[in-house]
Amino acid sequence: MSEMTDTRLPLLQIESLRVEAFAPDGSRTRILDDIDLEVHPGEPMGLVGESGSGKSMTLRAVLGLLPPSIRVTGGRICFEGRDILTSGPRGGYDTRVRGAGISMVFQEPAIALNPVMKVGRQITDAVALRQGMTKKAARKRAIELMDQVGIVDAEHRVDSYPFELSGGMRQRVMIAAAIAQQPKLLLCDEPTTALDVTIQAQVVDLFRTTQHESGLGLLYVTHDLAVVSQMCTSLTVMRHGNILEHGALQSIFDAPAHDYTRALLTATPRLPEDTLTALGTETRA
Ligand SMILES: Nc1ncnc2c1ncn2[C@@H]1O[C@H](COP(=O)(O)OP(=O)(O)OP(=O)(O)O)[C@@H](O)[C@H]1O
Ligand SMILES: [Mg+2]
Repeated sequence: MSEMTDTRLPLLQIESLRVEAFAPDGSRTRILDDIDLEVHPGEPMGLVGESGSGKSMTLRAVLGLLPPSIRVTGGRICFEGRDILTSGPRGGYDTRVRGAGISMVFQEPAIALNPVMKVGRQITDAVALRQGMTKKAARKRAIELMDQVGIVDAEHRVDSYPFELSGGMRQRVMIAAAIAQQPKLLLCDEPTTALDVTIQAQVVDLFRTTQHESGLGLLYVTHDLAVVSQMCTSLTVMRHGNILEHGALQSIFDAPAHDYTRALLTATPRLPEDTLTALGTETRA
């Protein structure tokens, strides 16, 4: 999808977003420095950048979940054209977008899941409540979703508690819970980092098919450009709370505008061979 011809309203439009951390003495530190970012309906976008560059804070600002000492001090975050920072019932963040509008998958499912609630209920609770589903229908839907994200024996596992499942399975439960809401935008913050390598590949594959089949907008934070190259069509590179560059994935891979991006790309040995050749890097076996 070319940005030139896409005249649809962006799903997510971040404009001049400034986020600052407030110290107890009142001094401020810039966390996000007037950033602009757009995600279109159905667009899978990768968000990369070194540690501390502001990737997580960007996602948390979009979901309205910044830590207490960190606040938005400027700019807009529009979801389907509406500024969600101010469209809440009391003029604040509009929590109504969470769920069917925007949902998020975090790095560590053990933290995001409730340890004393059966996973099946965690997958469908929010939807069941909103849609007035019966208990029985919600359970059936949970099994379907668990099946869809590749949890074998879903019929039985639906009644498991998180601690009874492996890390990879817990992350699948999180993904099932996120897609259960049928969001238009899915935010993912390094969703596979806590998993071992073989499971990582399976979960990445699951994200790719889910995004493709559901046609949802995706903002996917990762350190792994090889994953981005498999899953995303566009890329945003952050550094020090700024957007360094963004655009179509292939054009950034072909001709990175910044030395920093070039360094990121050449540090990723699993990129397609032609990209590495174009960058003047020897492919490693
Ligand atoms: N609670 C906090 N109070 C003050 N500053 C914070 C707080 N949490 C994070 N920061 C700062 O905000 C900046 C952006 O952090 P963020 O977590 O968004 O980085 P990131 O790009 O997600 O990094 P990583 O790749 O390590 O996850 C960093 O400089 C970090 O030190
Ligand atoms: Mg982070």
